[in-house]
Amino acid sequence: MADLQTVRVLGFAGSLRKDSYNRMALRAAGDLLPPGMTLETFDLTPIPPYDEDVRTLGFPSPVQEFRDRIAAADALLIVTPEYNYSMPGVLKNAIDWASRPPSQPFDGKPVAIMGASPGMLGTARAQYHLRQSCVFLNMHLLNRPEVMIARCQERFDAEGCLTDEKTRQIVAQLLAALGDWTRRLRTGAQDAY
Ligand SMILES: Cc1cc2nc3c(=O)[nH]c(=O)nc-3n(C[C@H](O)[C@H](O)[C@H](O)COP(=O)(O)O)c2cc1C
Repeated sequence: MADLQTVRVLGFAGSLRKDSYNRMALRAAGDLLPPGMTLETFDLTPIPPYDEDVRTLGFPSPVQEFRDRIAAADALLIVTPEYNYSMPGVLKNAIDWASRPPSQPFDGKPVAIMGASPGMLGTARAQYHLRQSCVFLNMHLLNRPEVMIARCQERFDAEGCLTDEKTRQIVAQLLAALGDWTRRLRTGAQDAY
């Protein structure tokens, strides 16, 4: 029988670089989960540039795996850098691939967003663009807390560990809220039958 209490989250970050702050933030989330939640991650590196001609022949295997992992997850955690006041192409590209028919796997999925940047606004502008795409794809976005990790270079140590206590607390709050949100949506879905 399926475990109705555990919330299995799939997380992915929109940066490919080894020392990415957003990848570090995703790793930190794994350490800050409340009981009853698990976090697996997906690396976007093998996702190719979107090509409709390729799609019509069949999803490339990394895309198929990404879609399957999204579909199997109870909830998503998307960690976005900010590039030119928006989300990076790497992230948008992966979302574009996964969003294509049949049965796009984002539909109805509970989703939390966070992001880290060296700037003062901590990816606020990127997150609002990302939210716009999430709305179109009918993801069930968590509204609060908003986790915008500003001046991120001051918040991780040389090993990539999130050391800033306030940031750790708000990431933990985000994860707990995502767990509650996912369970509420589950209950609502059961009540509907
Ligand atoms: C093409 C490009 C555009 C960027 N634009 C922004 C921006 O609009 N706002 C911002 O805060 N940082 C911007 N940055 C800086 C990134 O936030 C910074 O490189 C960050 O470390 C990227 O995330 P990562 O560490 O996870 O790779 C930009 C970086 C690149 C490469």
